[in-house]
Amino acid sequence: MSFDFDTEVNKFGINSIKWEFIFDAQHNAVQGDHAHPRHGGERLLPMWVADMDFRCPPAVIDAIVERAKRGVFGYAMPTDSYYEAVINWFARRYGRSIQRNWIVMTPGVVPALNLMIQTYTQPGDKILIQRPVYHPFTFAIENNGREVVSNSLLLQDGRYQMDFDDLAAKAADPAVKMAILCSPHNPVSRVWTAEELTRFGEICLDNDVLVISDEIHCDLIYPGVQFTSFANISERFAQHSIVCTAPSKTFNIAGLKLSNIIIPDEARRAQFGKTLERTGIMGVNTFGVVATEAAYNLGEEWLTAVMAYVADNYHFMRDYLETHLPQLHLLPAEGTYLVWLDCRALDISPAERKKLIFEDAHLYLDEGEIFGPEGAGFERINLACPRWLLAEAMDRLKASINNL
Ligand SMILES: Cc1ncc(COP(=O)(O)O)c(C=O)c1O
Repeated sequence: MSFDFDTEVNKFGINSIKWEFIFDAQHNAVQGDHAHPRHGGERLLPMWVADMDFRCPPAVIDAIVERAKRGVFGYAMPTDSYYEAVINWFARRYGRSIQRNWIVMTPGVVPALNLMIQTYTQPGDKILIQRPVYHPFTFAIENNGREVVSNSLLLQDGRYQMDFDDLAAKAADPAVKMAILCSPHNPVSRVWTAEELTRFGEICLDNDVLVISDEIHCDLIYPGVQFTSFANISERFAQHSIVCTAPSKTFNIAGLKLSNIIIPDEARRAQFGKTLERTGIMGVNTFGVVATEAAYNLGEEWLTAVMAYVADNYHFMRDYLETHLPQLHLLPAEGTYLVWLDCRALDISPAERKKLIFEDAHLYLDEGEIFGPEGAGFERINLACPRWLLAEAMDRLKASINNL
């Protein structure tokens, strides 16, 4: 089957955060039609939040439509076929065997992270993350009155690495109770190798630091790169970790609000269950379960095609920058459809860079500074867009930089 990733899908009147809103300096969402095609060359091109611009797999759309036609939308629970679809996906693709009762459903990975922080740590405890990293990790830790400890990544020879000496020193602090691993890593696009995960996990577990492995991007891997789940390293790792998974990034269904949190340890699962009870989180989104089941059973061919398209976008962008903007350096892409662009050689302040990108080029990207101070001078760019849009974005970037 062939899929059309080139034609622009109308994103207006669908509550799209990416296309119909801008966040102002106070982080308030402001609705507008700034990205509408009617503005021609002046329209804003949104390449920020991790949503794809593509329609999701046809089988998912069909399943949702069929379900909607039934016309009843009462409370829902996952059935046997739902669990089979999830279990089979991870067994088939990653060789992970997940038992049905290990799967705890939450309305998203970010809510789950917040709830796990509340469940497994106390106010004042320290939680380790690896900046530059997906900023809601920091928000979740700080909003719950815990303290961020950053085992910051090192950029060595053009590739990000974990700093294991620093990790060993920080994990030894008895106040560090939890580590949130971003695997694959957003925003630097690293897919951690089994060896890196082993070293990370041994240091954490030897120091009684619970590992939460956020693997939401695990299916979005570039051709030729291999993903390993933290839990697949060993039985010990599986028992002493919690893996966060979701079909949302993989199949572009984040608005359906569903994630599967894998908790093999019974006592930990019971503790988390209590937290869910306390917060009144129960049941699932009707369309979320329907879409997930269809996606995991029937969406693999679409996923392969999407990642091939995204990989071509990456090569297009890399070649464009080498030819026209050699002062910008694109980091290697291993996983996620988000790429990390080193703009430090422009030697301009964050405010000047924001003006250049947002006001002059009319591009809406994510400035690296939001991922922690380690992201200063970088931009994160979402490549899950039609190639013509990426080409236009590159032309605008070139024109704005040449005008500096
Ligand atoms: C690493 C990571 N975790 C979690 C999320 C969001 O998860 P959810 O929408 O399920 O809350 C994202 C979204 O970009 C992400 O990049």
